[in-house]
Amino acid sequence: MEKKNIKKIYKSKIDLIKKYNKYYFDKNSPLVSDNKYDNLKMEILKLENDYDYLDSKFSPSKNVGFKPSKNFKKILHRAPMLSLANAFSEEDLINFEKKIINFLSINKNFKIFYSAEPKIDGISASLTYKNGNFEKGLSRGDGKEGEDITENLKTILDIPKKILSKDFPKEIDIRGEIFIQNSDFKSLSEKFANPRNAASGSLRQKNPEETKKIPLKFIAYTFGYEKGLMVNNQSDFLNKLNEWGFKTNPLNNLTSGIKNLMENYKEIEKKRANIDFDIDGIVYKVNDFVMQKRLGNVANAPRWAIAHKFSSNKAVSKILDIEIQIGRTGALTPVAKIKPINIGGVIVSNATLHNEDEINRKDIRIGDTAVIERAGDVIPHILSIDKQKRSSNSKKFIFPKNCPSCGSETIKEYNKFTKKVDAVRRCSSEDYNCNKISIEKLKHFVSKEAFNIDGFGKKIVESFWKLKLIKYPQDIFKLDYLKIEKLDGWGKLSVQNLKYSINQKKNISLERFIYSLGIRHIGLENAKLLSKHFISFSKFKNFSKQNHFEDLLNIDGIGDTQVNSIKSFFLTEANKKVLNELEKVLEIKDAIQNSDSGLLKNKTFLVTGKLNGISRAEVKSLIEENSGKTISSVSKKLNYLITGEKPTKKKVDNAKELKIKVINQVEFLRMLNKTS
Ligand code: IVH
Repeated sequence: MEKKNIKKIYKSKIDLIKKYNKYYFDKNSPLVSDNKYDNLKMEILKLENDYDYLDSKFSPSKNVGFKPSKNFKKILHRAPMLSLANAFSEEDLINFEKKIINFLSINKNFKIFYSAEPKIDGISASLTYKNGNFEKGLSRGDGKEGEDITENLKTILDIPKKILSKDFPKEIDIRGEIFIQNSDFKSLSEKFANPRNAASGSLRQKNPEETKKIPLKFIAYTFGYEKGLMVNNQSDFLNKLNEWGFKTNPLNNLTSGIKNLMENYKEIEKKRANIDFDIDGIVYKVNDFVMQKRLGNVANAPRWAIAHKFSSNKAVSKILDIEIQIGRTGALTPVAKIKPINIGGVIVSNATLHNEDEINRKDIRIGDTAVIERAGDVIPHILSIDKQKRSSNSKKFIFPKNCPSCGSETIKEYNKFTKKVDAVRRCSSEDYNCNKISIEKLKHFVSKEAFNIDGFGKKIVESFWKLKLIKYPQDIFKLDYLKIEKLDGWGKLSVQNLKYSINQKKNISLERFIYSLGIRHIGLENAKLLSKHFISFSKFKNFSKQNHFEDLLNIDGIGDTQVNSIKSFFLTEANKKVLNELEKVLEIKDAIQNSDSGLLKNKTFLVTGKLNGISRAEVKSLIEENSGKTISSVSKKLNYLITGEKPTKKKVDNAKELKIKVINQVEFLRMLNKTS
């Protein structure tokens, strides 16, 4: 009885704070004083602290900030806004530099200069200037398409509205970070968990007058599309930004050598607490723009930059439960549900336990007191547990041997390449028979990098699934809109919007399509390779009929693991059916063949031996940029064998026998009109 009463009291308080939030954030007219609001918040937190079973997604312990408006217009970025790979140690930096040296094939003693820039933890924005006038500002969005937040950005004093400098490019997208200074955040700390949330929330207010009330700052650090930029390297660009009237980070530093990078990192980490804005690491960018251009990107991050993250934040909390989550590839991932705790400004209530072996190794049990670590945007994990605080009746956690969702047997695969048994246990069900796997597949299908359907997120997938509106990917395009219109929380307008977003995405690139199928080991980069290889959907679909899966090994970047995975995808009947059904409802665009005018069109190449001043990876990029293809063995399909120092004799002999042209590096570069 008492429990029931407490729950009732808790719910009434949650309802009240929901109402206060609505008036404060959405309607912009607070119902109560700050003091009264804070008292209510404290009462809720205290109740949660005293009674473990109280929980609400609207609790101030979880629900930080408020829902920003969804009504901004979406606009394509003229050049994508990339993200950065992370480094956590000196070793990671050494590898980063090694990869650059290998790619550019330069001497390992060559001094590469880096622009080392403290990484501000804010919200990135892209500002379009035409003839010196600030015309449009977009949020990052998914990196390809952002939201038009121009009016809100115009309220920010740090953003120049007109630039008269003669050398300011005719057209340029200036990119940088919007943030709130810690000193300014103090007065907002009741409403938001951290300055980043506050900046994001206020930037995405419907009413620019609201944005104006919050002292947002802007620091510029890079550019996207440009016409008329006359600068050769990043540090000169940063100087120019200052001359043009932008603020740049005063702690930016031009340096070379990993030792110096580490020193700079340590120094800034020491200063971190005294800087008036949050930084979560240092970004290193190869300073020289020519080198940057040669290095290019992998998937959605440049090869020429990396973010060196600061060490993490830790906190102690209690493990309330261990849940087994099932991913789209069937992997069973244990997750510790922990008593919500604030770690470095973020409320954490879940921590990954990685896999069965990790639980056994650390002997992690429900009820344990644990140290939880949160590093950057990585999922929090358990660092250690305090066995002394363990109660005498605690029991060892037994990892389920059957899939908790469908009951199928679970397996740990043997990897014949590494000769090791996988640490991950997987549900063995295929054919969309396991509900959890199917739901996760659907979530992947609609995710940002896949179909990216506006307003069709993970929650909608779950709710439509429960209502039996969707089971297979194709069902998304055949929804019963009349039924949805009658559902709680839906109306004519929202259904119309949903229908519009879904129809819009019926036209999709082959690359995104392949990625969205969620084939194991086929991420963005591999989907791109496959799409370039197959060019059209029909070739992709029909390929499986010939049963020559090994042919895919000819694609540089695709190995046995990927081929096996593609094979098992096509050998599963349910997947073939999904492909057939999707074909009926979608318009899958052919991959853009590397520009028709490419100098190496329809030509295939293979390199043997060591080249001089250029790496194989760069040769491959050059070939592809010019519409050519690289293949991995000498066969009739090969047109040119490029030989360097100490070529493999067998390859040269085979090539000669097949009357394939054998050329050296200089001859190859001449084909591209490059003389050196
Ligand atoms: S450069 C390809 N420079 O870090 C270059 N980013 O994970 C990508 N960031 O979304 C951006 N300070 O929000 C760059 N000096 C800096 C930065 C910086 C913070 C953020 C930015 C971006 C994220 C990349």
